[in-house]
Amino acid sequence: MKQTIDILIERLNGLAPRLALILGSGLGGLAHQVEEAVRLPYADLPGFPRSGVTGHAGELVAGYFAGTPVIMLAGRAHYYEHGNAAAMRPVLEVLAGIGVSAVILTNAAGSLKAEMPPGSVMLIEDHINFSGTNPLIGEPTERRFVGMSEAYDEDLRGALERAAERAGVLLQKGVYMWFSGPTFETPAEIRMARILGADAVGMSTVPEVILARFLGLRVAACSVITNLAAGMAAGELSHEETKDMAPVGGEKLARILRQFLSDGVPDA
Ligand code: HPA
Repeated sequence: MKQTIDILIERLNGLAPRLALILGSGLGGLAHQVEEAVRLPYADLPGFPRSGVTGHAGELVAGYFAGTPVIMLAGRAHYYEHGNAAAMRPVLEVLAGIGVSAVILTNAAGSLKAEMPPGSVMLIEDHINFSGTNPLIGEPTERRFVGMSEAYDEDLRGALERAAERAGVLLQKGVYMWFSGPTFETPAEIRMARILGADAVGMSTVPEVILARFLGLRVAACSVITNLAAGMAAGELSHEETKDMAPVGGEKLARILRQFLSDGVPDA
């Protein structure tokens, strides 16, 4: 990882962001709004994953957003691409290695609540790991026993809620449940998820949250709702729908994030 950290530090040329954003479907456009941008394809960063999912580019963009130094990661590796839940570990290790202290993760998700329709944005307050795996399986040190009681940082959550209010965007709150994918859920699985306490379902983010906490990074995460979950609306779910709908909530989330950064990130 040292090699990648050195490459990045050299390319950043003195810029020292404390905050990184991992952009999910529909938010990749945010990376184009970075000023004085340094762009690095993942292919130039040893250890970084190659994402094959359309709608995910695979580029690290560093620079200024709303006047604040940031790193944006457009493109992530998903567990369902290869069965490796730890595929994002090198990325998070490199971020921690260059002095990033907080990450904000974004994703596209299906909603379990009719009152949180497509186009909504949900602040993740907690998650349920329903994948049956964990990115820290195989980690040999005692550090693997990571506490997850406060995985989603209270100060960051509060700041995002205030930013949403100031930006005039409704920010819902809830529990995100990680299904491995790549299939969408069945209606029976969604009824189960609701009973278990989920508000939204998706195929990403949770492994990165676990890895980030393992590395001592502070975490916040937001879902852009692209659809009502399986069985809640007529018709079959599709990746096309996810890609078509993500920019609607994505535009709202972009406004929240811009406000959040211009207000000043707590401790970052
Ligand atoms: N399920 C899982 N992942 C998703 C969904 C969904 O309904 N929508 C967008 N990503």
